[in-house]
Amino acid sequence: METIQSVFNMRQLRKKFEGDVGFVPTMGYLHEGHLELVRRSRKENDITVVSIFVNPTQFGPKEDFEKYPRDTVRDLSMLKELGVDYIFLPSVDEMYPPGFNTWIEVKQVTERLEGAARPGHFRGVATVVAKLFNIVQPDRAYFGQKDAQQCVVIKKMVADLNIPIEIIVIPTVREEDGLAMSSRNVYLTPEMRQQAPVLYQSLQLARKLWESGERDAGKIRSQMEALIRTKPLANIEYIDVADAITLEPQERIQPPALISLVVRFGTTRLLDNIILE
Ligand code: PAJ
Repeated sequence: METIQSVFNMRQLRKKFEGDVGFVPTMGYLHEGHLELVRRSRKENDITVVSIFVNPTQFGPKEDFEKYPRDTVRDLSMLKELGVDYIFLPSVDEMYPPGFNTWIEVKQVTERLEGAARPGHFRGVATVVAKLFNIVQPDRAYFGQKDAQQCVVIKKMVADLNIPIEIIVIPTVREEDGLAMSSRNVYLTPEMRQQAPVLYQSLQLARKLWESGERDAGKIRSQMEALIRTKPLANIEYIDVADAITLEPQERIQPPALISLVVRFGTTRLLDNIILE
């Protein structure tokens, strides 16, 4: 396994790659969710590149960029164990040198949900992912369904800008009790952690209601809300039902429908979703 820190060295190496290249962009502090993307890339490509870069431009001024969990030594040993070929580990200055001034804005699909809750977030995500795609030039790139809107935004960017990369979305990896794995789960106190599986329980309730014939999105949302309210530390930020491709809100459920929610425990925002097809 080789670690590369500069754009120049990554490009030089890229020229020598033979066969299909798979790419997994991450912000590190890796867990089983990330590792699942890496395993898929290893299976489907000759060479796998993983990037670890906590991207400052996708964090709001009051968000957790400074205290975002980092443990590069542990990350590298996990990736080595999986047989990853190359790790791209640039510094903030390497990615955003002084005078950096070009941004990618994907319209419409970024206007609701996380885009509304975190202004500028997807501008930062789209810009850094486009840069990473240009530096690594993979054939395939792997993203998690956990961040459903991010997947929609990246797919739209790739289509609109004719970027010749196949985007592959991997199902959400969960803890045994259903909590979606996330680097931010370490922020939860033991009491919050105990109540956090209610997000997935509410999504399963939604699926059960849909399977038994309920099509009214409002009714499904209010039953999810009632269940989440039984957990005293849970504060609902939003529960949303939308078209899974356009992210337009749905009043009556029409598959494929994305049911997504954000619930806050203290200042930690937990996010989860399912798709009804
Ligand atoms: P990060 O939060 O580190 O996530 C990296 C990738 O892992 C994303 O595609 C994310 O959806 C996926 N992932 C996270 N938790 C997962 C889970 N429980 N199951 C399956 N996949 C999961 O997302 C980002 O970083 C950044 O926005 C990035 C794309 C790297 C751009 O900076």
